[in-house]
Amino acid sequence: RRRTAILISGRGSNMSALLQAAADPAYPAEIVLVLSNRADAAGLARAEAAGISTAVVESRRWGRDRAAFEVAMEEVLAARGVELIALAGFMRVLTEGFTARWAGRMLNIHPSLLPAFPGLDTHARALAAGVRLHGCTVHLVTPGVDEGPIIAQAAVPVLMDDSEATLAARVLEQEHRLYPAALGWVASGIARLDDGRVVLHAPPGPSAGAL
Ligand code: GAR
Repeated sequence: RRRTAILISGRGSNMSALLQAAADPAYPAEIVLVLSNRADAAGLARAEAAGISTAVVESRRWGRDRAAFEVAMEEVLAARGVELIALAGFMRVLTEGFTARWAGRMLNIHPSLLPAFPGLDTHARALAAGVRLHGCTVHLVTPGVDEGPIIAQAAVPVLMDDSEATLAARVLEQEHRLYPAALGWVASGIARLDDGRVVLHAPPGPSAGAL
């Protein structure tokens, strides 16, 4: 099982979905750490209740010095022997150095069908654009924000009477299904980088039908 850290900044509902999947010993990722850049992240208490090690590295303490903040994070990650990182509502942009060190080993979930609507306020922007389909994307993290190779996506309809809240809730439900699947594919080697894109390979053996 690949030793995995989940990085959060807030509520942690995606974190909870990943913890639940990883509670199965057959799941290819083991969650060894939940790290928050904010001490008040609600997800920390949820992780502790699930018996997972937690850590806080307050990004505020370093102000604009993102590299120093990341050095502090790297120390915690190294101490736990972390091999994979899953960003789950982690609201800090990472430096090129950090993303390069974790290239191919760091995933993010984003609440839109990338490359549409990178950045913030994705649901409001989808409504304003009048798109009929919206959704979420799990991708590998590269220096360009929300630009990395796509691992998996899920789409939902946009309904005529949707508000930002109703649309966000419909997407979030899909996020909670998609992220555990995508992390499992990376941790097991089913998802591999090939020429800048993620390719899915059928796993060997009798589990091949499970996809
Ligand atoms: C999720 O919708 C996630 O996709 C989004 O923040 C929310 C976190 O919720 N991430 C981003 O916007 C990243 N830029 P959660 O803390 O309940 O998982």
